[in-house]
Amino acid sequence: MSLLNISNLHAKVNDKEVIKGLNIKIDYGEVHAIMGPNGSGKTTLANLIMGNPKYEITDGEILFNGKNVIGMPVNERARLGIFQSFQYPEEIPGVTVRNFLKLAYDTIYPDEKMSMFDFGDMLIKMADQLKIDRSFLDRNINVGFSGGERKKSEILQLNVLKPKLAVLDETDSGLDIDALRIVAKGINNVIGPDIGVLLITHYQRILDYVTPHFVHVFIDGKIVKTGGPEMAKELEIEGYESFAM
Ligand SMILES: Nc1ncnc2c1ncn2[C@@H]1O[C@H](COP(=O)(O)OP(=O)(O)OP(=O)(O)O)[C@@H](O)[C@H]1O
Ligand SMILES: [Mg+2]
Repeated sequence: MSLLNISNLHAKVNDKEVIKGLNIKIDYGEVHAIMGPNGSGKTTLANLIMGNPKYEITDGEILFNGKNVIGMPVNERARLGIFQSFQYPEEIPGVTVRNFLKLAYDTIYPDEKMSMFDFGDMLIKMADQLKIDRSFLDRNINVGFSGGERKKSEILQLNVLKPKLAVLDETDSGLDIDALRIVAKGINNVIGPDIGVLLITHYQRILDYVTPHFVHVFIDGKIVKTGGPEMAKELEIEGYESFAM
């Protein structure tokens, strides 16, 4: 049984069909990269996996560990172990990074009952590792964060919450070279036999640091070709035109 098994998915937003017969299977231990043109539906796919209710699924299945998650609310999917990092992480005034993560952690791991003190220790360790200033932990989520700081904060969340499936939407965009390395390290930290990763990206450069097992070309609402890591390099040279159908 696959960790994630999406078959023949069709979905609409505002009455416009955006996902048009998408199939993908992700197993534990695998890293999948999705590359595709602007507006092809990659973020929509990420939102559908996480359960954003803005989108209407008209056909197909999304199975997570064999269980159909269509119709399941976002918080339940998070509890099952699905994590999404956002292309445009939003500000949440009034909620600190620390409090948000503690609440999320307690929801996902209700049996651990970690004290705020031990949790704080863990956060500091992770922040130091990811070269995130400790003061960020007590700032409101993303409020006044630079683009790169937001992305690093998403990677902090990923490392703390340790999901079973991580859907990372352009976590590498807008990063300077040092931040890219840090974010890549944060992704590599969590990669292993207990997680599957779906990495949406426009650039081959992140794949120099995070090696995918599969690269998918995503055009007009579906995957049109799947290959190995070498395909990302070919795409960078040839562009998407030869794949358009
Ligand atoms: N909430 C929404 N309201 C209206 N249209 C939407 C909405 N979400 C997505 N769309 C449309 O669906 C299409 C796919 O958008 P999506 O954000 O999934 O593309 P993408 O592949 O992530 O693009 P990019 O590479 O630019 O991030 C676009 O035409 C977009 O305008
Ligand atoms: Mg997008």
